[in-house]
Amino acid sequence: NSMLSWQRTAFHFQPEMNWMNDPNGPMFYMGWYHLFYQYNPVAAVWGNIVWGHAVSRDLIHWLHLPFAMVPDSWFDIGGVWTGSATLLHDGKIVMLYTGATNESVQVQNLAYPADPSDPLLIDWVKYSGNPVLVPPPGIDIKDFRDPTTGWNTPDGKWRITLGSKYNTTGISLVYETKDFISYELLEGLLHAVPGTGMWECVDFFPVSTTREDGLDTSVNGPGVKHVLKASLDDDKHDYYALGTYDQEMGIWTPDNPEQDVGIGMRYDYGKYYASKTFYDPSKERRVLWGWIGETDSETADVEKGWASVQSIPRMVVFDKKTGSNILQWPVEEVDTLRLSSKDFDKIEVRAGSIVPLDVGTATQLDITAEFEVDKEALEGIIEAEVGYNCSTSGGAAGRGALGPFGFLVFADESLSEQTPVYFYIAKGTDGNLNTFFCADDSRSSKANDVGKQVYGSTVPVLDGEKLSVRILVDHSIVESFAQGGRTCITSRVYPTEAIDGAARLFLFNNATGASVTTSLKIWQMSSAFIHPFPAEKKM
Ligand code: FRU
Repeated sequence: NSMLSWQRTAFHFQPEMNWMNDPNGPMFYMGWYHLFYQYNPVAAVWGNIVWGHAVSRDLIHWLHLPFAMVPDSWFDIGGVWTGSATLLHDGKIVMLYTGATNESVQVQNLAYPADPSDPLLIDWVKYSGNPVLVPPPGIDIKDFRDPTTGWNTPDGKWRITLGSKYNTTGISLVYETKDFISYELLEGLLHAVPGTGMWECVDFFPVSTTREDGLDTSVNGPGVKHVLKASLDDDKHDYYALGTYDQEMGIWTPDNPEQDVGIGMRYDYGKYYASKTFYDPSKERRVLWGWIGETDSETADVEKGWASVQSIPRMVVFDKKTGSNILQWPVEEVDTLRLSSKDFDKIEVRAGSIVPLDVGTATQLDITAEFEVDKEALEGIIEAEVGYNCSTSGGAAGRGALGPFGFLVFADESLSEQTPVYFYIAKGTDGNLNTFFCADDSRSSKANDVGKQVYGSTVPVLDGEKLSVRILVDHSIVESFAQGGRTCITSRVYPTEAIDGAARLFLFNNATGASVTTSLKIWQMSSAFIHPFPAEKKM
């Protein structure tokens, strides 16, 4: 439906049509970034899952390739589900993925490139002895999926982990292998968290506590922490925690048990799921992909002919300043899409006011901003505010002494539609200030068949730091990063008025008692043309 074509994104990855979900097997190989993804070739709803495939030189401009794998064998006839790539020391690639069998059993299968000298890795071979793993005793046949990238043990073996559950306890099983064909299930679990339910798309990787660059998946030792991430099937969010991996015992222990996987931090507080990282040796960094699903109705997806995009790839590092979270930041290649920019220096936004930002059409933007709250107001606040919560405290319309303030993106001239992205500062009972970062989709659209949640969480702000935010705006996506990527929120929005040339950008300050001063730089963003594969080669 061409009437809805404005919703298609300009620089987020998406197929030309139909349904997409998880990113799969991301890697860098012979000068190319590869992205595979869960894809339904025939409809804009989940089903008939194949592995879509695209390649890029820069993580931004993509060339669509033929499907890498389709359900054509008894061990994956129910769908070629999520999996990960491991690069072996001799340069070979092994791909492990979940297959849903002819009897709907979840098994793990092995595949490899037919021609490793082809940098585009167009043809894939499934190992003739598949499946290589079947659900072990005590594990339900439908709770055994999404193998990770392998990591090396000191004695030259490989380990992989994958998610499952015992009753309502989310768990991560570990297997050891020499050849990716035969495996031994380790006795201990990598980790388990009661009450978190089925763990999908587990990810497990090291981060350096001392260096700026990313670490290859097998690195461990002093100055290394491990991130464990699980996608909770029950609530559809990606949760992570930082901890220590004891290779010998084969277990991971969270730094802070109160912030354990599934009960603590999320990668993203908005619409974001089934993410996966990979190590990029060409830039010595770890890059995170995540699936941004739709928040409209299935009928609307079918009508528009497509569903879902992938997030902007994000670089992931340990936050040395707080020591207790990771930072996520759009890969630097995104900056190459920046066109003309406008600077606004020290704009004062008084309590209860709205300031239009004259940036022209506001559908493809990269926004960076710093906010300073009036000192007197900050110091003068006496009343403690207990239990502020982005989702339940009235959104951007709920007024407090020191917030909310921030941006109205995808707003039409009359503000009949708007998606506020904002900070809210509350004084705790301990006298300290707590800062929240939120996105309010409740007035994002006049349509009534779309989700309208208010998202967000706290964001750590250290002494002497200004509040800072970066927001990527792309037609129907708002990806926001507060304090250098400590707290991130992705909104999927469907305005009916604030589209194309009618989409505007405003600053707002809905605090009752504080004025804020903001300095910003805003770029118009170019479109990343995503090339179709030459027609004669399409399957
Ligand atoms: C996560 C997930 C995975 C599964 C795949 C199927 O979104 O459910 O657990 O492998 O999608 O498409």
